[in-house]
This record gives sequence, C-alpha cells and structure tokens, in this order.
Amino acid sequence: MNGNFHWWQTGIIYQIYPRSFQDSNGDGIGDLPGIRQRLKYVQSLNVGAVWLSPIYPSPMHDFGYDVADYTDIHPMFGTLADFDALLADVHARGMKLILDLVPNHTSNEHPWFRESRSSRANPKRDWYIWRDPAPDGGPPNNWTSFFGGPAWTLDEQTGQYYLHQFVTQQPELNYRNPAVLEAMLGEMRFWLERGVDGFRVDVIWLMIKDAELRDEPVDPNWDGVNPHFRLQHIYTQDQPEVHDVIRRMRALLDEYDDRMMVGEIYLHNEQLMTYYGADFDEVHLPFNFQLILAPWEAQTVRRLVDQYEADLPAGGWPNWVLGNHDQHRVATRVGAAQARVAQMLLLTLRGTPTCYYGDELGMENVPIPPEFVQDPPAVNQPEIAHIVGRDPERTPMQWDASPNAGFAAPGVQPWLPLALDYAQRNVAVESGDPRSMLSFFRALTALRQSSAALTVGDYAAVDTGVENLFAYTRTHGDERLLVVLNFAGSTHRIDLSALGKEGEIVLSTGMESTGKLRLRALYVVGNEGIVLRL
Ligand code: GLC
Ligand code: CA
Repeated sequence: MNGNFHWWQTGIIYQIYPRSFQDSNGDGIGDLPGIRQRLKYVQSLNVGAVWLSPIYPSPMHDFGYDVADYTDIHPMFGTLADFDALLADVHARGMKLILDLVPNHTSNEHPWFRESRSSRANPKRDWYIWRDPAPDGGPPNNWTSFFGGPAWTLDEQTGQYYLHQFVTQQPELNYRNPAVLEAMLGEMRFWLERGVDGFRVDVIWLMIKDAELRDEPVDPNWDGVNPHFRLQHIYTQDQPEVHDVIRRMRALLDEYDDRMMVGEIYLHNEQLMTYYGADFDEVHLPFNFQLILAPWEAQTVRRLVDQYEADLPAGGWPNWVLGNHDQHRVATRVGAAQARVAQMLLLTLRGTPTCYYGDELGMENVPIPPEFVQDPPAVNQPEIAHIVGRDPERTPMQWDASPNAGFAAPGVQPWLPLALDYAQRNVAVESGDPRSMLSFFRALTALRQSSAALTVGDYAAVDTGVENLFAYTRTHGDERLLVVLNFAGSTHRIDLSALGKEGEIVLSTGMESTGKLRLRALYVVGNEGIVLRL
C-alpha cells in the first residue's frame, strides 16, 4: 500500500508540545527523556511521525519559539545525547521525527543578534531588520505585533528600531541578505546530518517583508477584537520573494533521502497552494488550517473540503489539522459531543492528518487562573486573554489518576495547571475502557492505516439532502468506504441507495454497532459518525 507514497503522505503526524508531555526530573516541565519513556504509547496511536515543538536553548519568552542556539538542546529538555537517543528510539519504533524550525526570528539572546545590535557598523547589523525612527521619533511604520503593540522596538544604544512581529525578544532576520539564508541552511544541515526526518517550519509565509517597509492599510472589515487584525498584512506576509527562500530550503532537503518540510501558513487557498512551488519545489505540505478556522457546520465543512480538493494543484498532496499549540482545543471549539465526529473527519479525509497531543483523550481547554497566565499575547492583552491566550491548550498530558496525572512526580508543581477532570480523562482509564475516546481514536487510526482507501484513495462528497450531515466516499481499487458524519444532535433517516444496497459497519463513534445496514433507510443518530464498507 505504501508503494508509491512517501511516509509523510501515508502516515499520521502527532504533535508533541515537549514542555507538557512528560517530566522526568521533577522540575515540572516536560523533557526529552520523558518523551522517550512514552514512545510506546505514541506508537500505540498508530502514528507515523512525531513533531516536536522547539527544544533548542531559549530564554523562553515565547516558550522556545525564541531560539538562542539552533544547534543545541535546552538543558531544561536534556542534552544532544538525549536527543540522539530519542531519535534512535523513534526510528526503532518505525516512526519519523520532525523538528520545529524557527527561521523567521531568533531570540534577542542569540549571538547573531547580540552582534547585530552592538553597533551600526557591525558586519551582522544587516542580518536583522533595522530602521531609523520616523521623523517624530516613533517607529518606522505602522506595522503591529501578533502579540499586541507595535512591531518595532527602539534600541537606545544605536538609536534604531528593530522589527519583531511577535514578542520584543524575537527580532526578525533579514532574508534579503543572502548570508542569513546560508547561515540558516547550515543550521538545518546540522539536524539533517543527525538524521531528523523533516522540519515543521514556523511562520514560513512571513519570512520576507516588503523591501520599502510600506505602511499597511486598515482593514475596513475588522471585527474590533484583536488589534493586530485591524491592518491588512499585505507587506509583512506572503511576499513574492519568500518563494526563493523556500526553494533554497527545499533544495537542501532534497540532497538527503526522503526528508520533508511542512510549512506553517495561514493563507486562503489561492495563495496557500503557491507554497507547493510551481515545480513542487517548495514545501511538501503547506499546513491546511481550515478545519480550525471554519464554523463547525456540516455544509460549511463540506464546501471547504470540496473547494480545497478542487483548488489543490494536480499532484499536490493534501493535509488537514484539527488542533495545535496555538489554537483552542478542538473538543472545546466543537463541543464535547462532537469531539469524536471531528476526529473521524480528520482521520478519514484525503491527506496527511496532524493530531495534537491530548486530543486523542478528548482534552479540553483548561481554564488558567489569572496568576498562572504565562503566554505573552495573553499577558500583554489581558482584555482579550480568553481569546488569544494559548496556555489553556498547552497543559500537561494526562497519563493516569495519580497526583499530577503521571506527568510529573507527586509534589512537583507542573508549569501549567492540570485539567480538573484528569482523574477520569487520562490514558490509563481510557485504555481500560473499550468505548472511551482513546479506544475510539486508536480504532480509527488503525482503520486508517490498514485501509488503502483511507490513506491514499479518492474522495467524493455524497449528497444526503440533510443540512446537518456531511457524507463522502473514499475509494481505492475495489475498496470503497462511506463516511457519514452528523454535526448535530438530531437523528436523521437518509436514503443512500444510489451507492448500493447495504454497507457493513467498520467503525462508529459509539463503538457499539456491527453488522450490515440498508442504505435505503440509513439512520444516523445525533452526534454520530459511521464508516461503512460498501
Ligand atoms: C508560530 C508558532 C507560535 C509562535 C509564533 C512565533 O505561530 O506556532 O507558537 O508563538 O510562531 O514564533
Ligand atoms: Ca523536566
């Protein structure tokens, strides 16, 4: 079945947020030896690859997305030897390892930035984006930070501003200077030589900014919530020259055997698809975040899936995401009753699925008491903290019912609070319950991985005539599966006899039904999803 396909096409990607997976040394923060101890569990989820959020040395102003050294491991997470051991174990279990690469910006403590800011004449001055103040002494233009406030900070010593679209401690590199790209390619090479299988590339669509640093226009349709979206980001995002940078990164990967990169890109289809590259010489996968951003309604989701399928360039491989460390938990967004339907959708659509740790348990956003709020956008903007804060989806993994949920030793204070329901919602309890969310998730991933129709088959939407239902077939050779998802609580009877006489239940969200169903009078109960073999 894997014959002509790459691992990153047929496998499921599982994202681990290292701070929150498993603490092994009693400091309340997850680490690499901790992840290593839990690999058997990861493998039991039938996933093909693990993506680790950043593990590099960092002052942690943005929890590791402010990198102070691209070629080492933060002592909090372990050592390079721990990393090598982890990589070897991941490979020994038949999985791949993807690292988070954060090329757009460094930490302000990175030696490159220390040099750059030391004087206007420093050879690395131009490695970052420095500009004189505006005539009134203010920032050079109107650009803003995703995390609140202006995108510019004045360096008193040299009298110029530097650009940062995230926290002030994340100065942005200047990829219009070829030396910067050469340096970053060198950092990537370090990990490729070590054997990592790929990179998830952070904010790849922001890597080049307008050469003239023009002001961005105000968006007349701004909803008034997040000040960063008051402007239309036409000069800080998706600049044409970014594709040259990405092609160089891809060319490096192509020097090695079967490595990949997946790019973090929040853009609409038309622009998003350009990141495959005109000759498929850019990212292997441009992250497709539509299931996160769209309202959870059957017809809306059907339309966006159909549109995405239609917009994909011929030969472009699709991908789908339900959650990550920047987005509220899927079970919270869609509601607990829909959590299984959402996973069934993710894991039966055509294209590589990315799963966020804990979603397989049905973990929800964890309310963070004000004194524990740590995430910079929430700290900087308390009025909208409940919308932009990311702590709630980054809480410790729930392994068992013991104090600290097995994430850290009893008595240790975890870096973020545990969910209140961890004694019921955890790996140990759910593994012992054949009808749990975890058991459902494992059955679903096992089904996906054993079915050519689901991993590589064609997709076609099916009309049901019912507003709340989204149905489709996945077909490969003789194998044909029908997926019917009920996005609401009401029961419906539908007639799908055009597809055949009957279908055999392969999996349902309720984990109870087996046998054959007549397609002429198919009952779909509230919040149910079913996969039938036709
Ligand atoms: C990406 C990361 C996010 C981080 C930001 C700045 O969006 O996913 O967590 O804060 O980039 O690096
Ligand atoms: Ca630790």
